[in-house]
Amino acid sequence: MNATQSGVSVRWLAQTSEDTEAFGAWLASTRPAGEALAVVYLIGELGAGKTTLARGYLRACGVAGPVRSPTYSLLEIYDTPGLSILHADLFRVQNAAELDGIGLREWARPAFLWLVEWPERGAGHLPQPDLSVGLSAGTAGHEINVTAGTALGVRWLNALSNPALASLVEKPPPGT
Ligand SMILES: Nc1ncnc2c1ncn2[C@@H]1O[C@H](COP(=O)(O)OP(=O)(O)O)[C@@H](O)[C@H]1O
Ligand SMILES: [Mg+2]
Repeated sequence: MNATQSGVSVRWLAQTSEDTEAFGAWLASTRPAGEALAVVYLIGELGAGKTTLARGYLRACGVAGPVRSPTYSLLEIYDTPGLSILHADLFRVQNAAELDGIGLREWARPAFLWLVEWPERGAGHLPQPDLSVGLSAGTAGHEINVTAGTALGVRWLNALSNPALASLVEKPPPGT
């Protein structure tokens, strides 16, 4: 998996499912310190690797046990030391206004991190993304393309694409 950077977008190629998970773990390792709410959109077709990436993130934060797409429950909240992680899968949402009914916004608060699959289905009813992670399966592997949407996201993206940082962690993204 190699990183290439152009402007404020960084691209990786994940050749295996393990690479996609490792990238999720790398996202977790590079999140800027602080209590601020952080929101990551995971964008891509069915099978693109969104849940795999979320699993890697959660595992890196110490979550053990199965991590599946919360397709039916819509969301799952994992409490980890110092950070609660909300993993949402909005695939089945028909009307974004439904999200107000389930009180999703109550979780938009400090010390929360959101990983949102199918954010398009919640358009207008979600906090803005700090990072948008696009995934797409191709012949060479699954492409992961990350863009920043906020100042926090820009700092995160800088850390993500910093090879010097990658050399400091136990599990850097493959290829670095
Ligand atoms: N980089 C990759 N290369 C090959 N297979 C992958 C890769 N990333 C994920 N997969 C596999 O693709 C399948 C679908 O992944 P999943 O994360 O459930 O997708 P999504 O949540 O986007 O629908 C899983 O079997 C997963 O192991
Ligand atoms: Mg999924």
